[in-house]
Amino acid sequence: MLALSPEQREIYLKYAKLSVPRHTSYPAAPFWKDEYPAENVSKAVSELAQGKNALSLYVHIPYCRQLCSYCACNKEIYGDLRLQMDDPRDRLLDNLKEEVKTFYSPLRHNPVQQIHWGGGTPTFLNPKNLETLFETLHKHFDVKQNAEIAIEIDPRVTTDEHLKTLRRLGFNRISLGVQDFSEHVQKAVNRVQSYDLVRKSVETSRSLGFSSVNFDLIYGLPFQTIRSMEETLRLTLSLSPDRIAFYRLAMIPEMFKWQRLFKQKDLPSEETNLELFLLALNVFTDNGYEFVGFDHFAKKDEALTQALEEKTLRRNFQGYYTGGNLPIIGLGPSAVSQTDDHYWQTPKQTRPWEKHVKEGPKFRGMELDSDDQIRKLFLELLYCQGSIDWTSFGDMVGVDAHSYFASEKEALKAFEQDGLVDIHARGFSLTPLLGRLLSRLVGAQFDRHLRRSGSLIKFSQLG
Ligand SMILES: C[S@@+](CC[C@H](N)C(=O)[O-])C[C@H]1O[C@@H](n2cnc3c(N)ncnc32)[C@H](O)[C@@H]1O
Ligand code: SF4
Repeated sequence: MLALSPEQREIYLKYAKLSVPRHTSYPAAPFWKDEYPAENVSKAVSELAQGKNALSLYVHIPYCRQLCSYCACNKEIYGDLRLQMDDPRDRLLDNLKEEVKTFYSPLRHNPVQQIHWGGGTPTFLNPKNLETLFETLHKHFDVKQNAEIAIEIDPRVTTDEHLKTLRRLGFNRISLGVQDFSEHVQKAVNRVQSYDLVRKSVETSRSLGFSSVNFDLIYGLPFQTIRSMEETLRLTLSLSPDRIAFYRLAMIPEMFKWQRLFKQKDLPSEETNLELFLLALNVFTDNGYEFVGFDHFAKKDEALTQALEEKTLRRNFQGYYTGGNLPIIGLGPSAVSQTDDHYWQTPKQTRPWEKHVKEGPKFRGMELDSDDQIRKLFLELLYCQGSIDWTSFGDMVGVDAHSYFASEKEALKAFEQDGLVDIHARGFSLTPLLGRLLSRLVGAQFDRHLRRSGSLIKFSQLG
């Protein structure tokens, strides 16, 4: 049984209110420049073309049929009436094709090893649309036969026809938005979907041969209790997903106005949220799952778990992944692209993105200096392996890490006293439970942009 002592619990709760980045990128996206020259993007793209780097493609489908009132994703809602009056799907597909031709034609000979469709809800597209979009990617990129091809689906809008089409196109990983199985919670967040509906999606996906069927769950939602979560976890295990993302509700009502509908009294307290996470951690680890890090769990024979053991795990915008350090090309509104030394992002809303594609580029982004690149790698290692050896890290990036991080090393001493890290002669490691639960806080110490900004930028709460 993994549990915190009363002292550790107190320490956890002391830090839980802090808002710190999740570091799916370093520097975190709010620190990028709002105006980023298109020439920098062209330069990064030609470097990738010359280097014949293998690529990962991310496609953002920005539409959903209904608003879930917790949602922090970049999406636009098309209910029945709006969809009847103005169906955006063909326009989206035309613009995606145009975006590929305008910005990424030099990359047509780079091998594509990974594809991920996210959103919004990619299965907002109908099966014919899915084929058209996939043809566009195949026509303009060299998608490899053995590529890992993943999609996020909402079971409520995904038919057998969708699943058959996806599988025929070569999709092999599928992530279902499940969130919670309790009807009371589902009603409170405007997302009602029965266990049977989820079960059918899982069974059909498995029978079609998807090699990895994954779930997204959220804790911190209104009316969740230990008892309701026990039931959600029981039902989750009964469907045996290969990976589970167990997200803490990211609550920033200043940004996501619909979250203001939540009443404080209906939300679990910080103590309850900690209990909910510890419950899930114990249930999953007792039932054949490994805690990969942050909010991710995977079955013991899953690629993520193997990568964790072999120390080849990586972390990017889509969370933890395997398969080496692939540059990402992002397509669609709000999509992020990244290379070792650049990030760039398209306009978040659909109309400005269409203008960006048709009338003239408008990126935000950042070119990473050498310090950014060092810290980016440092944080990825910390979050993926849970420990740092100063000398070998220094050798990897060509600096004397002892002196380079002298002030951060000093700051680690306070975390050692609180039991978040163990400091030893060669480096430090996160402690197995408290340190891993608060790894974002340790990471934040190494974030130069965060330290410079003070607390002006709002991130989601730690615990
Ligand atoms: C793009 S959605 C997945 C596909 C589809 N839209 C759906 O919801 O089924 C990505 C995931 O982000 C998670 N998510 C959305 N808003 C969140 C929030 N405020 N806090 C934590 N996780 C959130 C949900 O678990 C959701 O499944
Ligand atoms: S959680 Fe998924 S379905 Fe719900 S609004 Fe967000 S992106 Fe759309």
